[in-house]
Amino acid sequence: MPTVSRIFVIGATGAQGAHVVRGLVEDGRYEVLALTRDAESMRARELAALGNVSFLQGTFADEAMLREGMRACDGAFVNIDGFNTGEKTEIYWAMRAYEIALEEGVRFFVYGNLDYTLKKSGYRSQFRTGHYDGKGRVGEWILQQNGSNGDRMGAALFTSGPYIEMAFSGQTPMTPRIEDGVVTWRVPLGDGAVVHVALEDCAYYVRWLFDHQERANGMDLEVAIEHVRYADLAAAFERVTGYPARYVDTDLDSYFAPINAVADRPAGYNADPNDKSTMSFRDNFSGFWNQWKYGIITRDYGLLDEIHPKRIRSAEDWLRREERRAQETGGPTLWERIQPDAINRRPVLKMSEDGRRGAL
Ligand SMILES: NC(=O)c1ccc[n+]([C@@H]2O[C@H](COP(=O)([O-])OP(=O)(O)OC[C@H]3O[C@@H](n4cnc5c(N)ncnc54)[C@H](OP(=O)(O)O)[C@@H]3O)[C@@H](O)[C@H]2O)c1
Repeated sequence: MPTVSRIFVIGATGAQGAHVVRGLVEDGRYEVLALTRDAESMRARELAALGNVSFLQGTFADEAMLREGMRACDGAFVNIDGFNTGEKTEIYWAMRAYEIALEEGVRFFVYGNLDYTLKKSGYRSQFRTGHYDGKGRVGEWILQQNGSNGDRMGAALFTSGPYIEMAFSGQTPMTPRIEDGVVTWRVPLGDGAVVHVALEDCAYYVRWLFDHQERANGMDLEVAIEHVRYADLAAAFERVTGYPARYVDTDLDSYFAPINAVADRPAGYNADPNDKSTMSFRDNFSGFWNQWKYGIITRDYGLLDEIHPKRIRSAEDWLRREERRAQETGGPTLWERIQPDAINRRPVLKMSEDGRRGAL
């Protein structure tokens, strides 16, 4: 396959995209053209400082923008923000991004994907998760298209999962609280496990896909650290930091009670609340937690060991790296990061930093 050199990145300023971009440009191998609605935002300026990053200002919900970005590049990494669009609109723009990439001569297309939970659960509504199913359906469609288009433009799926960083950040589904001095995760997980990913490893995996296009063409690279049980996460936190921690299993009603006022609003901040296809937070995140609680999602850890021999292999491994980095840089420790006055200071998700607002 022809080597690509310049990659159009949708979602570049986001939690996932920023790591992906760093992985692509840090040794000068690739250039990135980053689509953003605001090239002056703090996160955009941090990307610019990496070097080899330029910007296209606009939205993915605009064919002219997609066309301009795809035409200027020979590779594409596309992570369409479903928490902006809602499920229905995400599906449309993700499909158009693929079609326009083909038309405009992109040679390799990597789609930021999530598991097609509804299908993987055997089509049972208790597992409906709009922000997973929206991506997962398109992911399957892209692989099917690639069967006939793969010579003209290669394509791969990068299927990730909840960032482990979210378990230590404000305004996420698994934000911890310190209760009577004990770090506490109250989530509806039962004895299940969250298939957490580390953002640092997302950088490696996406870079690997672009570096190994021959093998990656048609691949669904499903990644994770491990299946993380929250009792184990709490125990690892205690071992690594010396501070007490616990997991409290919670039923869905108790989980949503603190956000009852907003739980029935659309999960996507620009989704139409009057459109009957729009999923609420409550419905969307009930399915989300059920998929972990009932073990719907699997990973091939042997494949990940082969592709990324130095990958982060356990939550404890990730915790130790974070503490080591804090020591080396003088930055805040995990315990300091989750204090009530600190936890919302730098949320992992850009969407939270922006107050769940912004143009479609
Ligand atoms: N949270 C997780 O654990 C997780 C894990 C895997 C996948 N995901 C998926 O990743 C997506 C969100 O990305 P993220 O996790 O990196 O969140 P994030 O930190 O909130 O970033 C959102 C990104 O989407 C971009 N964006 C939003 N609307 C846009 C628009 N109309 N046009 C162009 N760019 C737009 C933002 O760019 P600007 O603001 O600069 O325009 C930003 O780069 C969602 O679909 C989510 O389901 C999330």
